[in-house]
Amino acid sequence: MRNLHLIDHPLVQHKLTLMRRKDASTSTFRTLLNELSSLMAYEVTRDMPLQDIQVETPLETMTGRVIDGKKLVFVSILRAGNGILEGMLSMVPSARVGHIGLYRDPQTLQPVEYYFKMPQDMAERDVIVVDPMLATGNSAIAAISRVKQLNPKSIKFVCLLTCPEGVSALQQAHPEVPIYTAAIDRQLNSHGYILPGLGDAGDRIYGTK
Ligand code: URA
Repeated sequence: MRNLHLIDHPLVQHKLTLMRRKDASTSTFRTLLNELSSLMAYEVTRDMPLQDIQVETPLETMTGRVIDGKKLVFVSILRAGNGILEGMLSMVPSARVGHIGLYRDPQTLQPVEYYFKMPQDMAERDVIVVDPMLATGNSAIAAISRVKQLNPKSIKFVCLLTCPEGVSALQQAHPEVPIYTAAIDRQLNSHGYILPGLGDAGDRIYGTK
């Protein structure tokens, strides 16, 4: 599928499999998620533009390369998205962070925004929206629509795992947004959970169940 990047690095696959185990403790789950998020940050930033700068080494002057442009923004979809931030920020410590909070209206089942806080100058920044699970796609679609109102230079979406339904919904709504994931599982169940999946990512990160 176009614009879909499956991160099949052996370390990513190994860690994801360990996270799926129902008897993985909260601490193990969180540690693996941090490690996996760092590896995913490495993949998703692969095409970041570079600029040449002059550097003085102890021996001579040379032309080195550093990341060009305004600082990247990671946008976390609350609350599970926050579980990915730490690992990503360990790779890109100077990145800015935005948060978006959405809940599902029990009547309409549509996402309703309750929190939205972004850095300044979004029109000059590249954005990476993060959420561990791309399931129905409703939250990701709403979050990306909202971020688009600020006209960032680019938007990418990163999740740990998804399913055909989630990929197709997000690609239909935002075809130009690349999706990065470590796995595409079999299907959604009738409660909106990914099968075989790893359960409720937020509960597993924060130990709330
Ligand atoms: N959100 C989760 O945390 N898990 C799923 O399987 C689907 C959505």
